[in-house]
Amino acid sequence: MNTRALLPVAVLASGRGSNLQALIRARDAGLPIDLRLVASDRTEAPALRHAEAAGIATLALDPAGYATRRDYDLDLFRRVAESGAQLLVLAGFMRILDADAVNPWRGRMVNVHPSLLPKYRGLHTHRRALEAGDTEHGASVHFVSPELDGGPVIAQARIDVRPGDTEADLAERLLPFEHRLLPAAVALIADGRLKLTAQGIAFDGTPLRQPLQLDGETLRIA
Ligand code: GRF
Repeated sequence: MNTRALLPVAVLASGRGSNLQALIRARDAGLPIDLRLVASDRTEAPALRHAEAAGIATLALDPAGYATRRDYDLDLFRRVAESGAQLLVLAGFMRILDADAVNPWRGRMVNVHPSLLPKYRGLHTHRRALEAGDTEHGASVHFVSPELDGGPVIAQARIDVRPGDTEADLAERLLPFEHRLLPAAVALIADGRLKLTAQGIAFDGTPLRQPLQLDGETLRIA
């Protein structure tokens, strides 16, 4: 029997939910997390169906029922807290969050973003990498701050940009790396090896100067 304490986790996802599925697979393979809740702003999000299929509690909360973005975010995050989650994972959650909702979760909320942050915060990251003529692209997992895609970066995965690549090519080739990157970063948090402190990210008790880099299935110091 696994006697390790499981970290209670909630996931927010607006769409397809392939990163959620990667977390579910990792959990099934021994990642020490307890998936308490999957919540979405879209009732029809496939992510909710994946959660249901895995027996995870779900919540579909429609922003249309709220007067302001802030009201919605505060109610959503209250429900997330009620689930007992101690880590909140944004996995394709396509909303800008109010600072009053984000701040209590500082150091306890991570996001996966398809660019090598600080490059290309926001949308259309693959297109922007191609337009810039980048020869390298990638994905990042970062702690969430009130600034969109602006919090401290925990870990990154890199891919080459090949001649003739389209946006769709980059998205397709990067996704399997996201699926390894996110569970690997969550594992370090669940194992207590990686924390956000007042001084920045600490990894094994030492300040992390550069994002960890994905090497195969493992995150390594750059
Ligand atoms: C991923 O590319 C993620 O990096 C971005 O949104 C996409 C979500 O995909 N934030 P999925 O819903 O996890 O399949």
